[in-house]
Amino acid sequence: MAWKKVAKVSDFPKSGLMLVEPEGEEICLIKSGDSVYAIQEHCTHEEGPLHEGQIESNGKILVCPWHGARFEFATGKVQEDTPWATDDLKTYKTKIENEEVFVDV
Ligand code: FES
Repeated sequence: MAWKKVAKVSDFPKSGLMLVEPEGEEICLIKSGDSVYAIQEHCTHEEGPLHEGQIESNGKILVCPWHGARFEFATGKVQEDTPWATDDLKTYKTKIENEEVFVDV
């Protein structure tokens, strides 16, 4: 495990979602409020691209763009109301230093 600089806080698009690939590993970065989270890029259902998904208005759940599976992105936990996705997402530790985002890969 090592901290890799992957983005600046100002790089996030309006959606709050962004794909980064430190060490060739595809990771979906999520900005919600003042916090940044990192999860695996591909949905555990059929590998939908999660950085093209949507953050729900509560700022805690990411919805997969392909079939709508819902994941709590702080923990990676799949939500019970979308049982077609059965596995949780891998999560990564993040930190922000001087407006730069680091992920522990
Ligand atoms: S690929 Fe994400 S819900 Fe199907």
